[in-house]
Amino acid sequence: MCKLFKQYNYLLIICCCIVNNLTAQKLEILNTNCKASLRGLSVVNSNVIWASGSNGTVLKSTNGGNSWQLLNVPNFEKRDFRDIEAFDSNTAIIMCVADPAFILKTTNGGTTWNTVFADSTKGMFLDAMYFENATKGIIVGDPIDGKAFVATTNNGGNTWSKFLQMPLLDTGEAFFAASGSNVLLQKDKFYFVTGGKNSRLFTNTFFDKPLEIPIAKGFETTGANSLAVYKNKAIIVGGDFAKDSIATNNCVLFNTKNNQFTKPNILPNGYRSCVIFINKKTAVACGLNGVDISYDEGNNWQMISKQGFHIVAQAKKGKSIFLAGGKGKIAKLIL
Ligand SMILES: *[C@@H]1O[C@H](CO)[C@@H](O)[C@H](O)[C@H]1NC(C)=O
Ligand SMILES: *[C@@H]1O[C@H](CO)[C@@H](O)[C@H](O)[C@H]1NC(C)=O
Repeated sequence: MCKLFKQYNYLLIICCCIVNNLTAQKLEILNTNCKASLRGLSVVNSNVIWASGSNGTVLKSTNGGNSWQLLNVPNFEKRDFRDIEAFDSNTAIIMCVADPAFILKTTNGGTTWNTVFADSTKGMFLDAMYFENATKGIIVGDPIDGKAFVATTNNGGNTWSKFLQMPLLDTGEAFFAASGSNVLLQKDKFYFVTGGKNSRLFTNTFFDKPLEIPIAKGFETTGANSLAVYKNKAIIVGGDFAKDSIATNNCVLFNTKNNQFTKPNILPNGYRSCVIFINKKTAVACGLNGVDISYDEGNNWQMISKQGFHIVAQAKKGKSIFLAGGKGKIAKLIL
């Protein structure tokens, strides 16, 4: 009896696991009627989602992704909005990477846009933007004369102050503008990761001595693309976007308390351009060849979809998760 019961129990567990793996995660591809490459995504709540990308594209949904409105940003039709941050259905900030670099803000749902930052310095290229809340934000840009560009805002992006001391980068070291997620703020700390010939982690406490990230590096296409932090746990993903299905040196874990890197036990299944924590334990990473999930703080990854995406984002309020990628693709991830 006892033995039987045990066996039955095991069977039940095995069955549950199989069912869990097959049906628990679902990617629902949404119809955006758009063909642009999307690398900006900001999910306000389960209804309000903004996305941005190439060809001056800004998309907004106010019904959970059922329908999308293509917003017009006059004079920016050919520009690339690699990142977007939205605070509600009316307020959003978009980042136009270069030639010249602009940050634009709307407070009327995208009807009109105000320029809140402009820089026409030769070589200026903005890569990523992060807002801790509706007031505090940070932005990073590629090096000019060897120095990276970093600026912060304390008023919801209305004005930006450059760092007094810009970080010195190595030759060939820069930022990826892959998913707007290689920089973040957490209380009084900022973090950003570089890629290219070198790939390093910068933060306030070791700003002058950034840490070498044990991740793929040495080429223009290699290095860290994204980081996620939950309390003292950080996950950094990247790899080589020119070899997107190669799953080596594409993810490292970092402890922000003791500043130690560790390698995951099972890596994500390819180059990954974006990673987020869903909660204390669960993380999702996406890249050109698919989407992976980890249920143990980034230590073991499993592929949940072979659909390629550039960026994954969770709602600031609520639990909805969306992904965006090439050819106007946006999907909802149901866990
Ligand atoms: C972007 O716009 C150009 C014309 O300016 C067009 O040829 C191209 O197909 C557009 N690409 C996308 C992805 O919409
Ligand atoms: C935004 O975050 C900063 C830093 O944690 C905090 O000081 C500030 O009060 C927050 N502002 C709002 C509006 O939540």
